[in-house]
Amino acid sequence: MEVITTVSEMRQKVRAARFAAKWVGLVPTMGALHEGHGSLIQRAVSECDTVIVSIFVNPTQFGPNEDLARYPRTLDADIRYCEKLGAHWIFAPSVEEMYPQEQLAWVNVEKVTEGLCGARRPGHFRGVATVCAKLFNIIQPDVAYFGQKDAQQAVVIQTMVRDLNFPLEIRVCPTVRDKDGLALSSRNQYLSKAERKKALCLSKALQKCRELIQSGQTNPDEIRRAVLPFFDQPEVFLEYFELVDPQTLRPLAEIRGPVLAAAAARVGTTRLIDNLLIDLQTPSA
Ligand code: PAJ
Repeated sequence: MEVITTVSEMRQKVRAARFAAKWVGLVPTMGALHEGHGSLIQRAVSECDTVIVSIFVNPTQFGPNEDLARYPRTLDADIRYCEKLGAHWIFAPSVEEMYPQEQLAWVNVEKVTEGLCGARRPGHFRGVATVCAKLFNIIQPDVAYFGQKDAQQAVVIQTMVRDLNFPLEIRVCPTVRDKDGLALSSRNQYLSKAERKKALCLSKALQKCRELIQSGQTNPDEIRRAVLPFFDQPEVFLEYFELVDPQTLRPLAEIRGPVLAAAAARVGTTRLIDNLLIDLQTPSA
């Protein structure tokens, strides 16, 4: 397992791999790896000859009052985990390496960034799209793996790749959850035991939403009314619970086909997100 920290060495390594006709897969992460990341790495290892995991806590996607400074950094454990899963290289550049001077060129993806988290975290998806564009240009992978856990992010990256003709394929992998339903997240580390229990409001509300849709409910307002009590707890602040079109991410006035139910809530000081893709054609989605 080799850890590469400079753009020039990363380019050189990948050039050699591509010259040897290797199929190159990239798993972009911010580290503090858990089994959710692990599922992406495992899929990449099963589908690619060379797998690169990038670990970079990207400052440009954090707002001024967000958790950049306290974001968990566990590089040694991450390296061991990637090694165990069979990844080949880790790309772990410093902030200075990725942003050596003031960044003047940015990627702005329109419309799909306007709602959900985009409406509450101004500039967040500009930072995500820009760092992913940089990683794609540095590494030039054939495939990059993203998690359905961050559904809006996956749509934003797919849109960027489509509209800017990036020569790679995006593969989106299912959300990995703890046994009790909580979606795995690096931010779960912030939760106290009591908060960890309260955080189940997200997955429980989403399950309830799926049940209602499966039993024929087509009115998003009725669904929202039915799930609100899950968030009615001390120290829990619901940011949004929305039913949107899975591709355009626009709110649905009526449920007639596939729907993305997406929620964000603060539990104590920790902001958590979760979602379910609900398609009556494939009820287990
Ligand atoms: P990070 O939060 O570290 O997540 C890296 C990847 O792991 C993302 O594609 C995310 O959707 C996926 N992931 C996280 N939790 C998951 C879970 N429980 N199940 C399945 N996949 C999961 O997302 C980012 O980093 C950054 O925004 C990044 C894309 C790296 C750009 O900086």
